[in-house]
Amino acid sequence: MINRKGVHIANKWVKTVATLRDPAVAPHVPETRRMNRATLANMLNRYGMIYVKPVAGTYGRGVMRIERTPGQRLPYSCHAGLSKKRFSSIDTLYGHVLRMKRRRPYLAQRGVHLLKTNGRRFDIRVMVQKNPAGAWEPTGVIARVAQKGKAVTNYHDGGTPVPLSRLLLPKLGSNGARQAESKLKALGLRSARALARAHPKINMVGADIGLDTKLRPWIIELNTSPDPYLFRHLKDKSTHRKVMRYARLLGRIPAARTASRTRTAIRARRKR
Ligand SMILES: Nc1ncnc2c1ncn2[C@@H]1O[C@H](COP(=O)(O)OP(=O)(O)OP(=O)(O)O)[C@@H](O)[C@H]1O
Ligand SMILES: [Mg+2]
Repeated sequence: MINRKGVHIANKWVKTVATLRDPAVAPHVPETRRMNRATLANMLNRYGMIYVKPVAGTYGRGVMRIERTPGQRLPYSCHAGLSKKRFSSIDTLYGHVLRMKRRRPYLAQRGVHLLKTNGRRFDIRVMVQKNPAGAWEPTGVIARVAQKGKAVTNYHDGGTPVPLSRLLLPKLGSNGARQAESKLKALGLRSARALARAHPKINMVGADIGLDTKLRPWIIELNTSPDPYLFRHLKDKSTHRKVMRYARLLGRIPAARTASRTRTAIRARRKR
């Protein structure tokens, strides 16, 4: 069911183009270009920090954080996994990126200076799903804290899922945290709708949203096959239950309980 044509869009470029069509969403999309030497150099000059990543990547694999710090002997740095390497020129930096990327096509994206907690970056996953009435609904919000020394927050790359309120409360207080959370949900909802306008078959969107140090939200990526199990990490199980129920109704996960009950019933009958 998961591969039903049209429900999954792997190409990040295609997704970016679709979201830019909504004028309310576009200002929250970091500039994204196909990566080559010119776009890399140009965006580094303008932004100082960018991320480069495979056009069709997953799990944070191949994602690199690149920085330019003028005035240093080795002004360029490339952070991938736990390693950070420094370079004297754009050309040596680009040579390194080319070796790392191998033959995959890459994107360059303006880097978001993500908020940190205990020195670790975090971003936010907003789950948006088609509900039983056929309307888009934000069903879950969770923060993902990067492993120490990593530039990506992915769960499959050592990231830790935590309740967003735990991270925002100390920074914003309870009213501020609640307001920020509802704004993030609204942006997730709006971006899912924008994506669905161009790709009507999609039915779940996991919006990866980063808050920068000025608390401005940026849409880092929209996943069309988001992991519904992520929300099991929240103590309050109601979010997980709803996300799973919708995912099941959408045919995106097997009807687990029913299936295992059926298996048990079959086994019982065989024994008889
Ligand atoms: N422009 C950016 N600014 C700040 N952080 C970023 C940026 N792009 C990516 N990241 C970090 O890297 C992580 C992985 O990037 P991204 O979600 O684009 O690729 P992916 O995880 O490989 O794809 P998928 O989510 O489909 O598996 C993000 O969750 C975020 O933590
Ligand atoms: Mg991602």
